[in-house]
Amino acid sequence: MIKIAPSLLSADFSDMRSGVRACMENGADWIHCDVMDGFFVPNISFGSKMVADIRRFTGEKAYLDVHLMIEKPERYLDRYAEAGASLITVHAEATEDLEGTIQKIHELGVQAGVSLNPATGEEAILPFLDRIDTVLCMTVIPGYGGQKLIGSVIPKIARLAERKRERGYAFELEVDGGVRPENAAVLREAGATVLVAGSAFFGAEDKQELLRSLRGE
Ligand code: DX5
Ligand code: ZN
Repeated sequence: MIKIAPSLLSADFSDMRSGVRACMENGADWIHCDVMDGFFVPNISFGSKMVADIRRFTGEKAYLDVHLMIEKPERYLDRYAEAGASLITVHAEATEDLEGTIQKIHELGVQAGVSLNPATGEEAILPFLDRIDTVLCMTVIPGYGGQKLIGSVIPKIARLAERKRERGYAFELEVDGGVRPENAAVLREAGATVLVAGSAFFGAEDKQELLRSLRGE
């Protein structure tokens, strides 16, 4: 079954506990933590202390999906591992040593993800698909929640899903940006296995209903 990862970027930062609780109580599968540095993307969100505090609040069971939108993420991997990330996803565009970065994340005992901006082709990550735990396809230009999904990314998602099937890879195929009930079916059909939902989740009156409709139930 498809997993849903609400993004805390759309939660109330002055009451993050309520945002995290909303994810857990409504049966979200992962909790997506968007880390932004003001360089790789224009916006600044939060850092490793927030992730550590969230981990302390959730206990061991929650799956903390940490999406690093930061330049040279290799500088900060230890901190996010220490903070309790389950998955650390870095951008292919943000590091000159993607292979070493993936390896370092694994050495820290954390699952490793690689994200692609809408304009980045999958060629950048093909050599690593056998060892990546998650491929994160951005369907908006990263930096802000509440944008509209860029539909031209969908063929790339489908090609990655096809390659995964053909070669028997195990990675999760996560889609992030502008996901809502109206476009979830197309994304599921393209082969997405995890859908991130920020504004759709936190804006929904009935969050369980929102999760059901994103899952196609
Ligand atoms: C965008 C972030 C996304 C964002 C998604 O830079 O990586 O995770 O929070 O928000 P929505 O679902 O509102 O597009
Ligand atoms: Zn994200």
